[in-house]
Amino acid sequence: MSSVTLEHVSKRFGNAKGVAEVDIHIESGEFFTFLGPSGCGKTTTLRMIAGFYFPNEGRIRFGGQDVTSLPPHKRNTGMVFQNYALFPHMTVAENIAFGLQVRKMPKHEIKERVTKIQQLVRLDSYGDRRVDQLSGGQQQRVALARALVIEPQILLLDEPLSNLDAKLRDETRQEIKRLQMELGITTIYVTHDQAEAMSMSDRIMVMQGGEVQQIGAPHEIYHQPLNRFVASFIGETNLLEGVVESVERGIVRLRITPEVVLSGLVQNASPRCKLAAGEKTTVSIRPETIQEAADSAGENIVKGTIQFAEFTGSSTQYVTNAGAFSLRSMMISQGKRVKQRGEEILLHIPHEHVYFVG
Ligand SMILES: Nc1ncnc2c1ncn2[C@@H]1O[C@H](COP(=O)(O)OP(=O)(O)O)[C@@H](O)[C@H]1O
Ligand SMILES: [Mg+2]
Repeated sequence: MSSVTLEHVSKRFGNAKGVAEVDIHIESGEFFTFLGPSGCGKTTTLRMIAGFYFPNEGRIRFGGQDVTSLPPHKRNTGMVFQNYALFPHMTVAENIAFGLQVRKMPKHEIKERVTKIQQLVRLDSYGDRRVDQLSGGQQQRVALARALVIEPQILLLDEPLSNLDAKLRDETRQEIKRLQMELGITTIYVTHDQAEAMSMSDRIMVMQGGEVQQIGAPHEIYHQPLNRFVASFIGETNLLEGVVESVERGIVRLRITPEVVLSGLVQNASPRCKLAAGEKTTVSIRPETIQEAADSAGENIVKGTIQFAEFTGSSTQYVTNAGAFSLRSMMISQGKRVKQRGEEILLHIPHEHVYFVG
C-alpha cells in the first residue's frame, strides 16, 4: 500500500483548463474521494495518477517515489473505468487473468490468483461464463476483480456505480467498502454523487471548474463548508444573504431583510468569511436544524406561510415562504400533525446552526 501525493498539479488541454493547482496528500490505506459535478476535473486528476495523462505542471509521488513521468504499467495501480472496459467475448476468468498474462506470470500462479480473487468478489461459480451473459452488477465485480488481481498498491475507481440501478448501487457500494477495508488498499474513488461520497469516504476532495474547493472528512465538509458551492453541493441547505450589523462578544447579527435579523456565532464561520459591520455575507442553514417555534418571542424566529409540505412517514419536508425568501425545513414526525399549504408557521433557527460561508 502506498500514500499518494500531488504537488501543484495542473493539466491543460490546449487552451482549455482541465485542472489547476491540485495539492493533496492521500494516506496509505485511505479511502479518498474526488467529488464534483460533471466536467469539474475528477477523471483528469485520476488519469494523471494512473499515468494515462501527464501533468503540465507539478509532481506526483507514490510514497517516496516520484512517478510523474512513469507510464501506466510501471505504476502498479488498478483501475476500474466507468464503462468497465471488459472484453465481452471472453469469460470471467479470462478477463480477470488478462493483466497477469500481459505480465507473463506463470500459468499455475495465474490460476491461483484468479480463483482467489473470484472468491473475494463472490463470483466463484462464474469463471466460465462469458462476460456478455452477466448482469450489470456482476460485470462491475469482474471489473473490480480485474483491477485487484494484479495486487495494486493503489486502487482507482472512476464512477464505478453509475451504470447500475439504485438498489444495486447501494449493495455494490457496501461491497466496495468491504473489499477496501478487508484489503486495506489505498483507494481513490471518483463520483458526482454526494451521498455515495459521504457514506464511503475517509476524506473527500470537492472540485468545481477544475479547482479544489475543499478537502475534509465527510462531517467537516457537511458542517463546515468553506464556501457557498460546497454548502449547496453537499446535502440540502438554505443559503441566505445579508449585511452584517454587528459583531459583539462572539455573536454576529446579520440583516437578511428589513424585518429579519439572524444571529450566529463567530466560531461558526468559514475562514474565508469577512465578518465586520457593513460586509455582505451568506449563511448556510441545514433544513434538519430548523424547528417549529411555539411563540414569536426570542431570537432567530421567522414567520411564514407553508408553501409546500411533503410527509414521508418519519419526517415532513416543508417549504415556508417568509416574504423575501423561503426556507426549507425537515421535521421529525413524532406523531405531530402535518401542516398544510397555506397555514402559518413560526420557525426557530438555533443560532449554533447558522454557518457563515461568505
Ligand atoms: N482529452 C481531453 N481533451 C480536451 N478536453 C478535455 C479532455 N479530457 C477532459 N477535458 C476537459 O477537461 C475538463 C475536466 O474534464 P473531466 O476530468 O473529464 O471531468 P469530470 O470527470 O469531473 O466529469 C472538462 O472541461 C473537459 O471537457
Ligand atoms: Mg469523469
